[in-house]
Amino acid sequence: MSKAATKTDNSYFDAKVRLRLDNLPAGPEISVLDCFAGHGLLWRAVRRRAVGRKISVLSIDEKPQATGLHLVGDNMKFLPTMDLTGFNVIDLDAYGIPIKQLRLILSRPLRTGVTIFVTFIQSMFGVLPSRFLEDLGYTRRMIRRAPMLVNRNCQDKLLQWLALYGIQSVEIYSTADKKKTYLCMKINKDHDQNPPDQKAKPCVIACYITQGKRQTIKTRPKRKKVTT
Ligand SMILES: C[S@@+](CC[C@H](N)C(=O)[O-])C[C@H]1O[C@@H](n2cnc3c(N)ncnc32)[C@H](O)[C@@H]1O
Repeated sequence: MSKAATKTDNSYFDAKVRLRLDNLPAGPEISVLDCFAGHGLLWRAVRRRAVGRKISVLSIDEKPQATGLHLVGDNMKFLPTMDLTGFNVIDLDAYGIPIKQLRLILSRPLRTGVTIFVTFIQSMFGVLPSRFLEDLGYTRRMIRRAPMLVNRNCQDKLLQWLALYGIQSVEIYSTADKKKTYLCMKINKDHDQNPPDQKAKPCVIACYITQGKRQTIKTRPKRKKVTT
């Protein structure tokens, strides 16, 4: 791997490893579907530090660079038909915003309590994917006419978007400008049974500024479960 590639793949590497170590599922066996596996450095580092835990990883990457059990190709080709219930961790460590993959995964049957890790990085120009904004109620016209307005507060928008899928709490590491967000969420059985709620946001358990200290930024009450 070139020096440049190493730098890109490993930006905020320690924060990503820490987030995963702090949120490994309980139980003896951890089965990971690593959808943007690269060279597999992240989970290799987690494995080294999670002493006594048995972690098996199925890697997917569009480039043939993974070792161990792996699939080569666009993850969007595999995710629609794979049985995702076999995994208790799904990892989306993308370069940008893996909203297509996340939307697909959240609409598929998942194992109760599965932990999903997501890297969400706003592009240099700060543009958010149109489908993501449309899900949040922005029209194409607004996206075209008011880009400054619709593309700001990216982390807040992400939380609103997750609420549409019934995600009730997330744990976040973030850079101070909130343009790089590393998050972890546990998906419970009712995630697809809750009706979408445009105004709700998940409760943010903690925000880690990547240089170090754990900092609680805000908490919100969990949404009431609607029973009919
Ligand atoms: C940030 S790197 C991941 C680094 C990796 N987590 C590691 O530990 O080495 C993102 C990776 O996603 C891959 N990638 C990007 N789009 C993809 C897609 N649609 N399907 C599969 N792999 C993809 C790239 O080839 C790159 O290796």
